[in-house]
This record gives sequence, structure tokens and C-alpha cells, in this order.
Amino acid sequence: MTQDWQTLFQERKVSANEAVQRGIKSGDYLVVGHAASTPGDIVKAIYDERASFSDLKVFHMLYLGEPWHLKPEMEGIVKPYINFLDGNSRPLYKEGKVEYLPCHFHELPKLFDEDYPVNVAICQVSYPNEEGYCSFGITNDYCKAATERADVVIVEMNKQMPFIGGDNLIHLSKIDYLVEVDKPLLVFPPAKIGETERQIAKHCASLVKDGDTLQLGIGAIPDAVLHCLEDKKDLGIHTEMFTDGVMHMLRSGQITGAKKTLLPNKVVTTLAMGSAELYEFLNNNDDVVCYPVDFTNDPYVIGQNDNLISINSCIEMDITGQAASEAIGTRQFSGTGGQVDFLRGSKRSKGGRSILAFPSTAKDDTISRIVPVLSEGSNVTAGRNEIDYVATEYGIVRLHGLSLRERAEALISIAHPKFRPMLEQVVKKRFHIAD
Ligand code: COA
Repeated sequence: MTQDWQTLFQERKVSANEAVQRGIKSGDYLVVGHAASTPGDIVKAIYDERASFSDLKVFHMLYLGEPWHLKPEMEGIVKPYINFLDGNSRPLYKEGKVEYLPCHFHELPKLFDEDYPVNVAICQVSYPNEEGYCSFGITNDYCKAATERADVVIVEMNKQMPFIGGDNLIHLSKIDYLVEVDKPLLVFPPAKIGETERQIAKHCASLVKDGDTLQLGIGAIPDAVLHCLEDKKDLGIHTEMFTDGVMHMLRSGQITGAKKTLLPNKVVTTLAMGSAELYEFLNNNDDVVCYPVDFTNDPYVIGQNDNLISINSCIEMDITGQAASEAIGTRQFSGTGGQVDFLRGSKRSKGGRSILAFPSTAKDDTISRIVPVLSEGSNVTAGRNEIDYVATEYGIVRLHGLSLRERAEALISIAHPKFRPMLEQVVKKRFHIAD
């Protein structure tokens, strides 16, 4: 840091409680960082100083760590608008205590322009570089966009936040209040891969060719897919989520990005979640760039990658290919995330393909996830026109280009055998097929 930045740094450095008292007023629209870099000390300070506030709106996606703003004492003080439910917010949503706000991931920055007019952005950043720029580190997505639109920017400057390049920086002069912290980022153990996930992954991997660019979500199926790609070379990554699996393949030399048509030789992401080793690996790693979500997840940007393969999951799919990926009936479970962004982007990609991959059943084989009609009240996350390939442990089928009746037959072929007779009866009746 030069002398100038040291001066700026000293001027803006405050305690978390001071930042909250000076930066926030009743009625404000707050946008709070999320995932593995939730700004927990500042949120705790809002809780501590709650007597000073009323009618605060708080927006975030999945909030990991202690959710101080969701405690019962905060009712009437904070109104949470959540775009992706998690273990903390799911039970509260069921009780009507938090609002679910639907929006495609790539459209969140635009949401902050008018519809959710952010006043105060609160997130975590790294320490500044020589020129006084801090990095949003592992969570750029909507955070950078929020800081660009807010009147007040409050950050936790974390000694342990990796410095990651790309369009991922904020200058110290744009920060109003900085709170120094030195705490480990939240870590996620690798998902448990069972036989079902292994089978699904094998089917997904059968579509992947040398030189393809991949988008993979988080969880057991994407991790299992990566394990099945050990014979592939020159793979590229353009994704919303960077995980440990990608780190291992980068290290082994299978991911080079050499054939990428957009940002060749770079792994492109908007956030990262995984182990402490992953976060260390990302620090000042020139192979990896982090961009705002309205770049990474814009279908038109995604489509500039030739041979883009997107692999995501859903909760239920009806026999025509409509996918419910975020709710079980009327019960909101997670969020839309970037699923539709990548389904659409892969369609725009020359040679692009998308796969929705999921186990054929839920709840110990008592429920089929391929169903005649979606559960009552389910919202369609991905409409049937968006769907390309679908995989379960029983195989992979391509729905795009098939009639409704042909789609139903294809989906029955990958449903759990126990539910096929029921589905066949429904299809016969629906499409007037004689016995
Ligand atoms: N009926 C009833 N319950 C069902 C069900 C069904 N048809 N399908 C799944 N469930 C239950 C499971 O039993 C599980 O319950 P549990 O938590 O009590 O064990 C729960 O719902 C989650 O199912 P699971 O298959 O384990 O979910 P997952 O962790 O693999 O996540 C999605 C799958 C679809 C929920 C997740 O991928 C998602 O939220 N997608 C939307 C966002 C997205 O795709 N973003 C882009 C990638 S980052």
C-alpha cells in the first residue's frame, strides 16, 4: 500500500457497530453478501444495535453462518427478501417470516436499479493491493453490482479473503466504512457420492468431449461427473460456482481452457465454495478470474463459448419435460439460481448442450421424480422449451426435437422401473394410445 492508501484506509476504518450506526438508517434497502463470505460481524452489529432501527429491508441469496438478522427479536426491524433459501431460511419461510423474491441470478444487478433500490451494500473483501484495490474474492456475483449502486458501502476487510482478479475489484476510495476482520471463510465438505450419483455422472460424462467448456453446479452429481472425466483433455470452465473438483482438475492439467472461444486459458466463475485448500489455491491465481453475475450468467455471454455443456439438477420433471427445480409443491426449497441462465446460454452456444440430471426417485424410492404432472402448486423453473438432455441413473435422453408424446416415452425409459407402469398408463390415456 502506498502512503495515500494507508491514509484512506485509516480514515475509513471503524468498528462493526460504528459502521452500522453511521452507515445505516431506518427504512434502508440493504444488500448483504452471501455464500461462503457472509459479512457476519456487520450483521451481528445490526442485531446488537437493533434498538436504533425499524423497517430495514435485507436482500441476500443463501446465508451461511449465524443468521443474526433472522432471529425472532428482529421481527418488525428487518424484513428479509431472500432469493435462494437454505437451511436457516427454509423453516422461517414456512412460517411466513421471510419473503422469497424470485429472479434469475444474472438479473439481480438489474433488480437493484429500481425494483429493489439498494441504499446500503454490505459484503466481504480482501485487503488492498499496491494500487488500493480490494478484491471481492470468492463472492463477486451480485456484490460488486450492489456496491456500484448503493449510496453507502460497508465492507468486512478479511485478511483471509483471497485476492482474485477479473472484474472483481473495488477501490478503497469507493468504500465508506471498513471493518477489519481476520477469520476463516466458511468451508464446505465434499458431497457424498453414492452409486446413484456415479451412474448419473457416467451418463452425463458420455456427452463430454475433449475441449468442451463446462458449467457445473454444486453437489454430489457435479462432483461425480468430474470424477468421470479423467480421460478428457483441454477442458474449459465458464461457470457460476468454482468448487474443489475443478481445482483438482486444474492441478491435474485436464482443464487448460486452451480451446475456449471466450476468455481462453482462463477459468471463469462468479463465486467459489469449498475447502480452505480451495480458497488458498485461488489466492493470486492467474488462471482464475471472477466476474459479476450479469456477465458470467448472461445467456448471450455464455453462448459465446462454443461447445458449452451445462449440468444442473431438478426436484421433479413432468412427462413433457417441465422442470420444478426450486420447490416441492408450494414449499419453496431453494431458488432459481443460474439454472435457466445456463440452459438458455448453452442453446446459444455453437455445439452447446445442457443436461438436467437427478436421481429417478426421492425418499427411499417411495416417490418418482418423473411425474405425470408437477406437484400441485409447484412453479416451473425451466419450461419445457428450455430442456435439452435429461439424465437419471437409468440413462440419458434428449428431449429437444421430440414431440410431447415422444418426450413422455423417452422420460419413462429413464424413470425408476417401479414407476414405469403407472407412467405408461398415464401416457396412453393422455395421448390416446390404444392398448
Ligand atoms: N418430492 C419430495 N421431496 C423431494 C423430491 C420430490 N420429488 N425431490 C427431492 N426431494 C427432497 C429430497 O428427498 C431432499 O430432502 P432432504 O433434504 O430431506 O433429504 C431434498 O428434497 C433435496 O433433494 P436433493 O436431490 O438431495 O437436492 P440437491 O441437494 O441435489 O439439490 C436441487 C437439487 C434441484 C434442489 C438444486 O440443484 C437446486 O436448488 N437447483 C436450482 C438452482 C440451480 O440449478 N442453480 C444452478 C447451479 S448452482
